[in-house]
Amino acid sequence: MSETIPFPPLKNDLILRAARGEKTERAPVWVMRQAGRYLPEFRAERVENDFFKICRTPELATKVTLQPIDRYEGLLDASIIFSDILVIPQAMGLQVEMIPGKGPHFPDPLVVPSDMSRLRKDVDVNKELKYVFEAITMTRHALRGRVPLIGFVGAPWTLMAYMIEGGGSKTLSKAKEWIFKHPKASHELLARITDVCVDFLVGQVRAGAQMLQVFESWGGELGPHDFELFSLPYLAQIATRVKAELGSEHAVPMSVFAKGSWYALDKLSVIGYEIVSLDWTHSPEHAKAVSKGRVTLQGNMDPNLLYGGDEAIVAAVERMVRGFGSTGRYIANLGHGILPTVPVEAMELFLKTVHRVGLEVAAE
Ligand code: CP3
Repeated sequence: MSETIPFPPLKNDLILRAARGEKTERAPVWVMRQAGRYLPEFRAERVENDFFKICRTPELATKVTLQPIDRYEGLLDASIIFSDILVIPQAMGLQVEMIPGKGPHFPDPLVVPSDMSRLRKDVDVNKELKYVFEAITMTRHALRGRVPLIGFVGAPWTLMAYMIEGGGSKTLSKAKEWIFKHPKASHELLARITDVCVDFLVGQVRAGAQMLQVFESWGGELGPHDFELFSLPYLAQIATRVKAELGSEHAVPMSVFAKGSWYALDKLSVIGYEIVSLDWTHSPEHAKAVSKGRVTLQGNMDPNLLYGGDEAIVAAVERMVRGFGSTGRYIANLGHGILPTVPVEAMELFLKTVHRVGLEVAAE
């Protein structure tokens, strides 16, 4: 139905141009987790509906995706589809619940390698994750071309860790026991997750996503040696295979966010992503020196600065946008997701200051 109706023309392509390496008239900006609990309108929706029900109901996912775009009209340069990285473990056959105030919970996580037999083989994303594709198509229409729509997945190592830990963890001891004691089985699991990630991202672009981000949220739990073994090859495969499947005509810019993996910036700059998203442990000078203009940098203000009051926010944005923005090839963002108790006014000040400083830097 909706796939046959052409999408409305895009009115703001700033982020796509920055991703392609063009110098833009100001740095584009969006915020990880921009649709979420810090918004009173999102919390109101959550009183009515379970988290995964919102994800699985295209009308609700569309409504929530648009909440920050409407509230901060003209200030955000991209939207990101409302969903979660854990829809892939669900599609592979594991049950995942979202417990309010606690986070994700897997009642039956993978414990030993033989538990992989419980996972669905040859996952058909068009069946298991169709609801995400429908939400993307619906959102793309509802955006009316105001800003591009970003699709995403969790990266294989991060998803594997959730599937084994069964939820959040301070040490990731169980997932690490797998990679150190059962490296072969771990690679098999990572490869199976990678296959689903590739199909899912390709499907998201076909459904209307105009940019993609891969979240390796637990990258920094691995040291450089293990990151190169258990994360990097799969991140590289995802970029290469998604682009090959889409073909140059339909390929969209891809971003990789490996939180905590500061040591990997040089390697992340050459594995096929247009954008490397940074957490706040990078200084602009160092990140620019290491990435050498090979990718667009995205990030990276400490999300906790949004609790620091107006003066601290303005000073940090000045440092960030002047630091990264001087050479173009920059997309402003936080260094991780916005936190649930941030005042909506702090987000507004962040966005407005990025606009102001971005215009000043571009004019210099
Ligand atoms: O606005 C957006 O960015 C789009 C939606 C989005 C969500 N999760 C919604 C969400 C995106 C891109 C994610 C990605 C995600 N999910 C990641 C990668 C980014 C990161 O933060 O590192 C991870 C690790 C998850 C897994 C996850 N989902 C956790 C650990 C939690 C609980 C902690 C928390 O922040 O709430 C979630 C729940 C979740 N995902 C919420 C939202 C809005 C809150 C759930 C609720 O309403 O109860």
